[in-house]
Amino acid sequence: MYILGIESSCDETAAAVVENGETVLSSVVASQMDTHGKYGGVVPELASREHLRAIVPVVREALERAAVSLSGLDAIAATSGPGLVGSLLVGLTYAKSLAFARGLPLIAVNHIEGHIHAVILESRRAGTPVELPALALVASGGHTHLFRVDENFGYALLGKTRDDAAGEAYDKVAKLLGFPYPGGPIIDCLAPHGNPLAVRFTFAKMKGNALDFSFSGLKTAVLRWVEARDLAAAIAARRALARAEPHASLEQWLAVTQPETLDLLASFQHAVINELLTRAAASAAQIHARAMIVSGGVSANAGLRAAARAAHLPYPVHFPSPGLATDNAAMIAAAAFPKLLRREFAGFDTAADASLKLA
Ligand code: KG4
Ligand code: ZN
Repeated sequence: MYILGIESSCDETAAAVVENGETVLSSVVASQMDTHGKYGGVVPELASREHLRAIVPVVREALERAAVSLSGLDAIAATSGPGLVGSLLVGLTYAKSLAFARGLPLIAVNHIEGHIHAVILESRRAGTPVELPALALVASGGHTHLFRVDENFGYALLGKTRDDAAGEAYDKVAKLLGFPYPGGPIIDCLAPHGNPLAVRFTFAKMKGNALDFSFSGLKTAVLRWVEARDLAAAIAARRALARAEPHASLEQWLAVTQPETLDLLASFQHAVINELLTRAAASAAQIHARAMIVSGGVSANAGLRAAARAAHLPYPVHFPSPGLATDNAAMIAAAAFPKLLRREFAGFDTAADASLKLA
């Protein structure tokens, strides 16, 4: 069975064709990085406009690369939330129009469920399916959530961030220090060049649910650290590099980043990874998980992957391959597959929901 997936919840326009929920025949992602980079974050109005420009060619390319025509599809799936409403509307409306015109079933997918299925897809493909119940940590620019994933793909929310998402903390810290958006990849590359124990970050004790996260204190601590130093010239040099060379190399970044800033970045990354893994492992123990899934943009982090391996947890920890960690449409088509089997279709009145909940 062939499903066309469409994803447009934030700043990537993506389309993919996935066969039987496990074979990615094509996955096309048009990034808007160059549009938003200079603003240090996603500008919603620009994102909608870019989606409108990209949606038709991206879907066409996904079908062409998969060598599947619209009449060969079994269903069309689109992200209906959470995300930016103007962005979601473009992909969802286009999916509805195609489904209506072709008489195909429409499947609405929660973006977070998509991230979880990026890992389930690859594990099935590799012949080592994720054992359920599993604990899923979804950490991206918009969310940091812990879910129990049940045998029939039901979800229970165990913990979430009370303020900033983990990826958002990366992006804000990068911006404070003059690095471009998104901050995660660049901080991840620079962190191994500093001392992770140089700067001690303290976390407020969580009242209520001990499995909830809080990352806003970390950003404030970095702001205080920056204010206590004379970094204006170094920050200006990095901003200039970001403007002049949108794809600057690691060596170029190292040349404009002093050792104490490298230490700060290493310590920041160390603190974030520690928070994520500690709470994920505690949640997994609580639900007697048989596996852990780590997904979302932050799961691309090399430091997080190394720390998860070094933790020797008593169950397998599954990460997506880098191309499926950040936003893509293969994960949306994969999440739609069990819904297609259950004939869980969406009506043409399905609304884009910016704060759609999973579970
Ligand atoms: O899943 P995603 O593509 O979009 C959202 O749903 O938000 O995640 C993007 C987020 C950004 O905040 C970005 O800085 C972060 O993921 N990210 C990373 C890395 N690669 C992307 N964070 C840490 N380390 C990385 N290597
Ligand atoms: Zn995402």
